[in-house]
Amino acid sequence: MDFKELIEVRRSARSYKEEQIKDETIKEIIEEALKAPSWKNSETARYYVANTPESIEKVAAALPEFNRNSSKNAALVVTTFVRDISGFSAGVAENELSNKWGAYDLGLSNAYFILAAKEHGLDTLIMGLRDAAALRKDFGIPKNEQITSVIALGVADGPLKMRPRKAVDEVTKFL
Ligand SMILES: Cc1cc2nc3c(=O)[nH]c(=O)nc-3n(C[C@H](O)[C@H](O)[C@H](O)COP(=O)(O)O)c2cc1C
Repeated sequence: MDFKELIEVRRSARSYKEEQIKDETIKEIIEEALKAPSWKNSETARYYVANTPESIEKVAAALPEFNRNSSKNAALVVTTFVRDISGFSAGVAENELSNKWGAYDLGLSNAYFILAAKEHGLDTLIMGLRDAAALRKDFGIPKNEQITSVIALGVADGPLKMRPRKAVDEVTKFL
C-alpha cells in the first residue's frame, strides 16, 4: 500500500472480528514501530502484549466499559516509556517539557505501530482511558515506566469511516 493510501484507510476500529493474530505478526509490527525517531535515539518506548484469552481479559478489566466493548476480540497492547531519559542529559531535564519528550517519542512510535498494523491488514484503536495502576500491578510494569495507552489490535468488523479533519490553513502558518 502506498503511504497516501495507508494514511487514508487507517481509521480507529471499535468493533473486531473473532480472529487470532499471530504473535509473530505483532512482533513484526513492533519492529516497524521501533524505526520511529526518538530523542538522541533513546528508544524508551516499551510494548506489553496481551494476545492470549487470559492476558487479554486482564488488560480488558483495566479499561472502562465502553473501551472494553470497543476492543472485544482484539489483542491488547499496553504502551509505556521509560521515564527520565528522553529529554534528559545526565539525569537533568533539557527543557520545560521534561518527561513529555518521552510521551512525544512514544506517540511517534505508536503512530508507526498503527500504520504498520494497517499495512499488515490489521486495525487498531488507541485508548487513553485505562486504569494505569491496575495494569502496572497485573503485569509488573516497573515504576520507572510511564504507562500511556492501550492499543487494540485486530481485524475490524465492518467498514471504517474517516472522521472530519481541519483544513491545512486552519492549523498552519508560514512565517
Ligand atoms: C492519545 C489518544 C487517546 C485516545 N483514546 C481513546 C479512547 O480511550 N477511546 C476511544 O474510543 N478512542 C480513543 N482515541 C481514538 C480517537 O478518538 C481517534 O483517533 C480520533 O477520533 C480520530 O479518528 P481516527 O483514528 O479514525 O482517524 C484516542 C486517540 C488518541 C491518539
